[in-house]
Amino acid sequence: MAYSEKVMDHFANPRNVGEIENADGIGEVGNSKCGDIMKMYIKVDNDIITDVKFKTFGCGAAIATSSMATELIKGKPIEEALKLTNKAVMEALDGLPPVKVHCSVLAEQAIKAAVSDYYKKKGIDPEPIVGTVPECTSCSCG
Ligand code: FES
Repeated sequence: MAYSEKVMDHFANPRNVGEIENADGIGEVGNSKCGDIMKMYIKVDNDIITDVKFKTFGCGAAIATSSMATELIKGKPIEEALKLTNKAVMEALDGLPPVKVHCSVLAEQAIKAAVSDYYKKKGIDPEPIVGTVPECTSCSCG
């Protein structure tokens, strides 16, 4: 199985790993295919994601995709972050081997879960904005 240089770089030097104290939103999702877990923390100011960190109990591909995903949404409006797909993250990493595609779904869903949590904390129903955050959607995992 061959990983791109970008995947190896983000796996070896993941960006934005850790927790945010007093995060405005925290999302935790599990991967139904492998049982791995991803936790995402966001700080939001004026609908802009000013900071984001993640922790994962997951494989190298999950680490690399989450690292890239956090880089792609940092400093962006929530609206844009919600449009980030696992496919876009994979493209930014120059691809993933087919058997690892399901790993990239964790980051996309964890972002959505964190944004949902942010809205819930503000007393806003997240569903019309974020939609439901299912365990696994865009791959054949479930
Ligand atoms: Fe579980 Fe990659 S094998 S996230």
